[in-house]
Amino acid sequence: MSSKLAYVCNDCGADYRKWQGQCTDCNTWNSLSEVRLGSASRSGKVLRGGFAGAVDGEVKTLSEIALEEIPRIGTGVGELDLVLGGGLVPGSAILVGGEPGAGKSTLLLQMLCNLAETQSALYVTGEESPQQVAMRARRLNLAAQKLQIMAETSVETVCAVAQKKRPKILVVDSIQVMHIEEVTSAPGSVSQVRESASMLVRFAKQTGTVLIVVGHVTKDGSLAGPKVLEHMIDCSLMLEGSSDSHFRTLRSHKNRFGAVNELGVFAMTDKGLKEVANPSAIFLQRGEEVSSGSVVMVVWEGTRPLLVELQALVDDSHLGNPRRVTVGLDHNRLSMLLAVLHRHGGIMVGDQDVFVNVVGGVKVLETSADLALILSVISSFRDAPLPEDLVVFGEVGLAGEIRPVANGQERLREAAKHGFKRAIVPVGNAPKQSIQGMTVIPVRRVTEALEALS
Ligand code: TYD
Ligand code: MG
Repeated sequence: MSSKLAYVCNDCGADYRKWQGQCTDCNTWNSLSEVRLGSASRSGKVLRGGFAGAVDGEVKTLSEIALEEIPRIGTGVGELDLVLGGGLVPGSAILVGGEPGAGKSTLLLQMLCNLAETQSALYVTGEESPQQVAMRARRLNLAAQKLQIMAETSVETVCAVAQKKRPKILVVDSIQVMHIEEVTSAPGSVSQVRESASMLVRFAKQTGTVLIVVGHVTKDGSLAGPKVLEHMIDCSLMLEGSSDSHFRTLRSHKNRFGAVNELGVFAMTDKGLKEVANPSAIFLQRGEEVSSGSVVMVVWEGTRPLLVELQALVDDSHLGNPRRVTVGLDHNRLSMLLAVLHRHGGIMVGDQDVFVNVVGGVKVLETSADLALILSVISSFRDAPLPEDLVVFGEVGLAGEIRPVANGQERLREAAKHGFKRAIVPVGNAPKQSIQGMTVIPVRRVTEALEALS
């Protein structure tokens, strides 16, 4: 058996013919590991032959291809459907990633027990024994009568069994313990993960099975991270949440069948993962008294508004180069906004340390947080608390202008629903009809926003 060697980067999946210390694609050091190619491509031939309905070498125009409405299979978990873009698509491959203990197995087990009522589903568990899974299902009061389960780590066996049983939904938990006989490296190594996943994905495409694979993300990246998988799969979901919080967020990073950056929110309880159907204010737990530097902003996550508290601390610096620290926000954006504040608001914080934090471990990528950031910095700088019933959103431009953001009306309405009575917003987002119980202060420039505070 002659097999070729290649070296693959654990982080980005780039491959090289020779080993080198640094991946020239993504610049990560020491991330290349050895992959044996010969055997896998041989086994690939057996299964190759195109996806369902394809004839080798046939060329068509796009309009000749018959389009059926893609049927979606509802998972029975509303937040999961939302993130998937409306449910599972037959023949698609989905990766559910997350740190160990995030709740991936729990979420999938809950989903499968729902689905097994109407569809045939097969759960391949490579990490837990069937007894453990059954015990968990019993403890969570799940309907377990129809779900088929198999403890197996050989991909060939999984495909053979699935070929016979023809499940509509196949879940493999997790890809890191799966292996292919012919690949000699250990389970969890890049070559095993890559080849196992590609064999499973091929199987899914050919048979129209929904394939869901679980992938662990480790902090040090010593296991083959799901990065190498991301090219193969149709949809990549990440289940995230810090261990000190019982909230878990499910985010899609890639989705060939729906929008990305949709956010699903769950709470981990003693009865498994519970959906948080109306998550707009869950991260909003303010104390009795609002302190200076704290402001609530309305950000837009996927298709929903989310109310989040932003805190700033501005303090005399003893360093030659004062600190600029952000948690949950873009660091460069802070430097930029401080420059705008100096130039157009006349407020100088060059000799101050500035710390900004989004409460609740939420990551805000939107520019609508700009105005909130500026106001919270000023509030802390002046040690003057902002009104507790105030919400803020808006983008700030380099010329000191406040620009409108998308979905202004919905943001305001959501804030009003949660009892906020005042809002400072861009002029472009001022509502045409007044919103009940809410005073909206439209602002054009940073200076106007500063005046609105006094
Ligand atoms: P699990 O689904 O096994 O995580 P993963 O498959 O992502 O590694 O979830 C494990 C964690 O969830 C564990 O720390 C305990 C917690 N948990 C609960 O708090 N309540 C529950 O009902 C269940 C099933 C798990
Ligand atoms: Mg697990």
